[in-house]
Amino acid sequence: MNDVGLRQNSDGLDLPISRSTAAFLREQRVVPGGSMRQASWFEPHPPYAARGEGCWIIDLDGRRFLDCANNFFSLIHGHAFAPIVSALSEAIARGTAFGVPTEAEIALAEAITARNPHLEQTRFCNSGSEALLAAVKGARGLTGRHRVAKFEGCYHGSYDHMEVSLDSSPENWNDPEGNPASVPYAKGTPPAVLADTVVLPYADADRCAAILKREGPSLAAILIDPHASKAGMVAMPAEVLAAVTEACARDGIMLISDEVVNFRLSHAGLSPLIGLKPDFVTLGKIIGGGLPVGAVSGPARSMAVYDHAAGKPRVAMGGTFSANPLTMAAGLASLTHYDQAAVARLNGLGDRLREQVNRGLAGTPARLAGRGSMFRLHLGARDVIDYRSARPLPAEATAVTRIHAAMLTAGVLLTPNCSGALSTPMAEAEVDGIAALLVEKALATSGWR
Ligand SMILES: Cc1ncc(COP(=O)(O)O)c(C=O)c1O
Repeated sequence: MNDVGLRQNSDGLDLPISRSTAAFLREQRVVPGGSMRQASWFEPHPPYAARGEGCWIIDLDGRRFLDCANNFFSLIHGHAFAPIVSALSEAIARGTAFGVPTEAEIALAEAITARNPHLEQTRFCNSGSEALLAAVKGARGLTGRHRVAKFEGCYHGSYDHMEVSLDSSPENWNDPEGNPASVPYAKGTPPAVLADTVVLPYADADRCAAILKREGPSLAAILIDPHASKAGMVAMPAEVLAAVTEACARDGIMLISDEVVNFRLSHAGLSPLIGLKPDFVTLGKIIGGGLPVGAVSGPARSMAVYDHAAGKPRVAMGGTFSANPLTMAAGLASLTHYDQAAVARLNGLGDRLREQVNRGLAGTPARLAGRGSMFRLHLGARDVIDYRSARPLPAEATAVTRIHAAMLTAGVLLTPNCSGALSTPMAEAEVDGIAALLVEKALATSGWR
């Protein structure tokens, strides 16, 4: 490591530093915060990836990490999956972007419809955030209204309205009537954004119904992620879902189901599992095979809002790199190999992980929540039912950070809040290893029980 560089410690001693540390020091000079993404950053700095191999990341220093972050749940087949590599190699040799359509975009749209016939039509874009933005605009175009409702704490990308109440806290999360307040996330959020975004409680059906009764007639859309990671990765109660669908039917509100993450839960995504027929479904992550992607899908009657064939569409949706042939090729390979059997196998591995960890943590206040191939560790004895109860207390947050660091040192990469997602290259051996380590590191970490 000596060839990499030296860094003075607090005693003024020159110590050799790792290649990842050298990269971080270099990046700090040209990138604010020394990292491109807040969500994946942790102290002192994440390892820098040199390459990936199946379910492993190899960093600049040659250390191997079992990758449970999977680029924030977007890599269903891990890294450098051979069918994706060959689909991409073939596509790249044909050219990367044309400004005219390709057959690849038809094939991926058809693959989505084949998995869920309710999703008759699709438009692609380059990120989940972009998809949410387009879906909200689509709902506005169909209803002629501009206000939206979303659930407290839920993440739907980085669009102004979607960020409202993303990180509200006990000091500001209630309005005078005890309903969730519309809390700004970014400094400088326009007051109009707060006024136009109604915040709903994730696990209180009566309150949710009462808010929607009052606000429903002015809403263009209700946004839901009925198994939201930020709401603890627990299911939204059926009564809350019923209050939402009832309000949509009564007041002509468009229902947007955000399945950017949860599409991986079944062959057809999350909504068919819970009997939802949304007007728009937003997609991303696994449908791009590891390349940047987003999509809005839905029945032809709602997707018609983007139809430009007869002139100016009610709502424009497009972009220079939308439906680029590389993403389309990688996405098709990704979905083709995530068939019914692969979904069932991976979901079974997730059940196995939760069962083993929860057995190991029995008798403590901690548990592993999640569904299918996704999981999240909770510390604390209270029931986790929504964003408020999932939000760690200060001592729990410190312990989560320590457990994350201990897992990393032991060679397992989780997201910084100790959540993760499995990928198809994993098998029982990897899952059992993750379970044993997670139990060991959680029990060895003080401050949470
Ligand atoms: C539920 C959900 N919606 C939307 C997004 C935004 O997707 P992207 O990061 O591709 O913009 C994310 C990203 O993590 C997400 O988790």
